[in-house]
Amino acid sequence: MKEHTHDHGPLAGAEEIVRISCIRHTYEDGTSVHLCGLDFLAHTGARIAVLGPNGAGKTTMLFHILGLLRSQEGEVKVFGVSPADEWPSIRRRIGVVLQNVDEQLLAPTVIDDVAFSPRQYGLSEPEALERAHRALGLLGIEQLADRVPHGLSGGEKRKVALAGALVMDPELLVLDEPFEGLDPTSRTALLGLMGTLATERGMTIVMSTHDIDSVPEFADYAYVLAPGGRIALSGTPEELFASADVLAEGNIEPPILAELFARLKERDASAPSPALSVTQAVEALTAWKGCPEPR
Ligand SMILES: Nc1ncnc2c1ncn2[C@@H]1O[C@H](COP(=O)(O)OP(=O)(O)O)[C@@H](O)[C@H]1O
Ligand SMILES: [Mg+2]
Repeated sequence: MKEHTHDHGPLAGAEEIVRISCIRHTYEDGTSVHLCGLDFLAHTGARIAVLGPNGAGKTTMLFHILGLLRSQEGEVKVFGVSPADEWPSIRRRIGVVLQNVDEQLLAPTVIDDVAFSPRQYGLSEPEALERAHRALGLLGIEQLADRVPHGLSGGEKRKVALAGALVMDPELLVLDEPFEGLDPTSRTALLGLMGTLATERGMTIVMSTHDIDSVPEFADYAYVLAPGGRIALSGTPEELFASADVLAEGNIEPPILAELFARLKERDASAPSPALSVTQAVEALTAWKGCPEPR
């Protein structure tokens, strides 16, 4: 587990895009979420996962990044400003997919929904449509352009919302449980797209998820929220998933590969340390068992 430092996180030294320091939000019914403990940091081009059980405070944290909630204490900075106070000055740089996508799909057709922001920002009609079609293409859903959002499946809605989030080429993408409702093929495609956006366009991506197996594939750094919102742990996926103690402390189920390697180690101390991708696992197990190289 990391000490409370100000230089942790991936790409430390790159521009700081998001910082959250010890904030609190108390909902009307008195439920208090205290996002304190470690500072949350996201630097340019980082892919950050936010983990934690239901109700820990992941959505509350993302809402603070989006200026939808105002902290009663502590500090939230996005692109160097307070999002709750100065949202208009930063909103064009930020793309969002909410956990409840129905809240953000409001236009009569998919293409109108995706073209909403470019029209809003005063782009010409041909340019707005061009951008919207390009965003649909990025998600592989051009065929949905004239559909009514309300009638789409959960996974399709999520892709439309993502197209809308990407249409203005944001620098920061905030995704709340983006894999919910996606079939395995769409999930894999989304993981690939997120990787491309981060590596080729330098997009910073902050994602909350329950999909633990996606974390080693997606994230270069992860934060774990404990119930009540405490930012309890942070580290690279390798750091977080290598230790059963850390997993227990964060109350997170290990990725299935990490569990496989832990069980092998129980049986045979010479077993290799956990691999987090199938490719790494094949290499580690092949070397361990002295299997011949593949032809
Ligand atoms: N609108 C709300 N009114 C009252 N309590 C809320 C509201 N939204 C969230 N909460 C509470 O705040 C805590 C954190 O919720 P949330 O941020 O949605 O967690 P997560 O996204 O990790 O599941 C939970 O205890 C939840 O019940
Ligand atoms: Mg949530």
